[in-house]
Amino acid sequence: MIVVTGASGGIGREVCLALAARGEDLVLTARDRGRLEELAEEIRALGATAAPHSCDLRDQEQVAQLAARILREHGVPDAVLCLAGHSIRRGLAETFGRPHDLVRLTGTNLLGPATLLLALMEPMCTAGRGRLVAVTSASTRIPTPGWAAYGASKAGLDSWLRSLRPEAARHGVRIAIVEMPLVATAMAAPSYGSAPLGALTPSRAARRVLHALDAPRTLVSPPWARAGAVLSQLAPTLAAGVAGRAGAVLLRAAARSPRPTSPAARREGRG
Ligand SMILES: NC(=O)c1ccc[n+]([C@@H]2O[C@H](COP(=O)([O-])OP(=O)(O)OC[C@H]3O[C@@H](n4cnc5c(N)ncnc54)[C@H](OP(=O)(O)O)[C@@H]3O)[C@@H](O)[C@H]2O)c1
Repeated sequence: MIVVTGASGGIGREVCLALAARGEDLVLTARDRGRLEELAEEIRALGATAAPHSCDLRDQEQVAQLAARILREHGVPDAVLCLAGHSIRRGLAETFGRPHDLVRLTGTNLLGPATLLLALMEPMCTAGRGRLVAVTSASTRIPTPGWAAYGASKAGLDSWLRSLRPEAARHGVRIAIVEMPLVATAMAAPSYGSAPLGALTPSRAARRVLHALDAPRTLVSPPWARAGAVLSQLAPTLAAGVAGRAGAVLLRAAARSPRPTSPAARREGRG
């Protein structure tokens, strides 16, 4: 049985459909119960099983209850795929007075997933088997102007998992991280439009997640992100400047593509 967070949309939904085509038993989680139930129906029509459980990862109590329910009703997972995420793009001037952005982003991208993983990882370690895959972002390695809070929350999960990885491996639990580049989903649309320049499609992004699940890989990351990570260490100001300029190119390209209509959605990544 495989647990997928962020199953209700974007990359997570594509991952679930691909796993369903293989006949995997799935536990689907996100906040939107309606979208989870629709996906579960679609998966059952493919001949696989899917159990939808809604949960807000920012609510620690809900996360603890979700973990207990998964273990009680479905047993110890073979794999947990952490795809749920939230993003906010703000420059420094817009960030003043908004420490709650950090609370929101760390809740969804770090504390919620970590709480869920801790609860599920313990019985997985006892069973001596399992696989964890977390989707972080290329901006984890290349700190990028405008994405400070998002990058920090993803970097936190990345560092936490990298530190746990050797001990988890000794218990038979393999941890893989996918540093995802830009993908044309609802998350990217408020900043970069519905068809961002150079973005992956959700199905291509899903293939990266499946590769991390299947292959003995600890890191799935584009070569340019690995090179950017080295540059960030050697010349941090230059690297952030290059990343900022690349972001500006994407924003200019997005100005010519369709935009979401809600002002709130334009200000923030949805999620
Ligand atoms: N799109 C990109 O360009 C990009 C780039 C790098 C990394 N990533 C990462 O890739 C992953 C998938 O993103 P995506 O592009 O597929 O985004 P998306 O289409 O916005 O989907 C995000 C998913 O996370 C769930 N979610 C958001 N907030 C949640 C919360 N508080 N509690 C529980 N679930 C929550 C959403 O479901 P509900 O709304 O139903 O809760 C949805 O299923 C994320 O971790 C994201 O950070 C994306």
